[in-house]
Amino acid sequence: MSTNGLEAIQLCKSYNIDSRQITVLNNINVSVAAGEFVVIEGKSGSGKSTLLSLLSGLDRPDSGKINLAGTDITNLSEDELAPFRNRKIGYVFQSFHLIPSLTALENISFPAELNRDPQAAAKAKELLHRVDLSKRMNNFPHQLSGGEKQRIAICRALINRPQIIFADEPTGNLDSANGEIIMELLLELRKEFKTTLVLATHSREISGKADTVFSLVDGRIENSSGQVNQ
Ligand SMILES: Nc1ncnc2c1ncn2[C@@H]1O[C@H](COP(=O)(O)OP(=O)(O)O)[C@@H](O)[C@H]1O
Ligand SMILES: [Mg+2]
Repeated sequence: MSTNGLEAIQLCKSYNIDSRQITVLNNINVSVAAGEFVVIEGKSGSGKSTLLSLLSGLDRPDSGKINLAGTDITNLSEDELAPFRNRKIGYVFQSFHLIPSLTALENISFPAELNRDPQAAAKAKELLHRVDLSKRMNNFPHQLSGGEKQRIAICRALINRPQIIFADEPTGNLDSANGEIIMELLLELRKEFKTTLVLATHSREISGKADTVFSLVDGRIENSSGQVNQ
């Protein structure tokens, strides 16, 4: 498969709550081609965040295999996964996850600093300019609006030029006007940076813009024609 893509085979994930086992994902198969914009949709609690965490190497399945950006991540140790995620993957979360003690510029450059990239600050400034936030460079997250924080988080996700971006309800904490601006920006930047985008949402409006939609229902994926995709 292509190096920018994603393939997950027979993923299962259960949680134990009060000695009861709850199966959240039941034999999920997902295939994403390079450059695709894929939406994972489903009701609240349907397992979107759980699936995104597994696909992006933040959490591990109980069983199944995942090939991400040309690497079989199924058996990588955490020590191997951390640098892999930093170099190849970008993450955007609903609640931004910026580091409160770092400025906007420092938040963006952080993943590049981890790679000892001498261009980290210059790249961060360029990205800030691209999202029209140069004036906010030295502000801390608490001084920024939700939409501004998400623009910073998107810049941070892009700084290492990832092959694939995972976004979990990136507009979920924004009003509808700001949500639309953020979605447009993400889709524009995806083209400019030639990254694959896998996004979880419960918004039908956003799903309508995707190349492919996977719908999570009762722990399984139904494709848009309503068939179980096994
Ligand atoms: N760490 C966890 N421990 C126990 N249950 C969890 C955990 N994470 C998620 N769940 C449960 O798994 C189900 C799916 O959650 P989630 O993936 O967050 O859904 P979504 O993102 O679609 O709202 C929910 O029933 C949730 O309560
Ligand atoms: Mg979620």
